[in-house]
Amino acid sequence: MKPVALASYLRERAAAVDNEMRRLLARGDIPPRLREAMAYSLFAGGKRIRPVLLLAAMEALGASCEPGLPAACAVEMIHTYSLIHDDLPAMDDDDWRRGRPTNHRVFGEAMAILAGDALLTEAFGVLASESAARGVPPETIVALVRELAEAAGATGMVGGQVLDLEAEGKGVSVNELVTVHRRKTGALLVFCARAGALLAGADARQLEALTHYAEHLGLAFQIQDDILDEVGDAAKLGKPVGSDRRKGKGTFPALLGVEASRREVARLTDAAKAALAVPGIDGGMLAALADYLLTRER
Ligand code: IPE
Ligand code: IPE
Ligand code: MG
Ligand code: MG
Ligand code: MG
Repeated sequence: MKPVALASYLRERAAAVDNEMRRLLARGDIPPRLREAMAYSLFAGGKRIRPVLLLAAMEALGASCEPGLPAACAVEMIHTYSLIHDDLPAMDDDDWRRGRPTNHRVFGEAMAILAGDALLTEAFGVLASESAARGVPPETIVALVRELAEAAGATGMVGGQVLDLEAEGKGVSVNELVTVHRRKTGALLVFCARAGALLAGADARQLEALTHYAEHLGLAFQIQDDILDEVGDAAKLGKPVGSDRRKGKGTFPALLGVEASRREVARLTDAAKAALAVPGIDGGMLAALADYLLTRER
């Protein structure tokens, strides 16, 4: 495996995604306040892990990542919508996100709900029309739309958010919590890896390997999020700590303690990296990404 420069890779790919999202959001006849609310959360300094993962999966298979930019933007738009809604008073009721007051604190609840709705809907429009404009074959676009709908909707992220809310104050088991985490957070990360694979023309074995990589990574990512909510630095995170405890959320630190949770993140990171050992995958960048997420402080 070649040594990789993750920081510059992340910066460059995230900048490409940002440029494309700026272009996309500037189009069309959108009521100004709605456009402002969408842009407020979209350009608030998110890490862009999901779009970068999608592009890195393509490049790990030797493809150019350029045709994947629309799918990468689509997934970041859906992720951003999920955060806007996640922060609403009816859900996690948080006032800070990405280092700024949450969307509903600035624009009001109605506009925050609608900005989320607009980002979700626009994501599918972008995925379909912009992918076609970049020469992605129609059958690949259909597969991506289907996978994204499953990953983001009732069977995936939204379903996971419901399980998360239902578990509040209830004392869930570790197995139940794994299910919540796989769905509310893992599903979208798995989509990213699979979308990258499908766009790059992966064979069945490569697709399966990248799926397993992202399943482990996705669970590790949410456990690390739970750990940071318990012992992180709010200034670095850009969101409050102690929010989960305040809401009586089921989290890994609450069930296992912080140290055992950290060990679980490390174990899952190793498993994610091990899944990459398949012919035709140059897993250097994806492994570096997994290591970075293991030690992240935001
Ligand atoms: C936060 O996601 C919500 C989770 C699903 C854990 P990120 O940690 O990727 O948030 P941003 O996009 O960098 O703000
Ligand atoms: C969020 O999980 C999962 C989503 C689908 C948005 P959290 O509720 O733990 O995310 P944060 O901590 O608010 O970012
Ligand atoms: Mg939540
Ligand atoms: Mg939350
Ligand atoms: Mg959290």
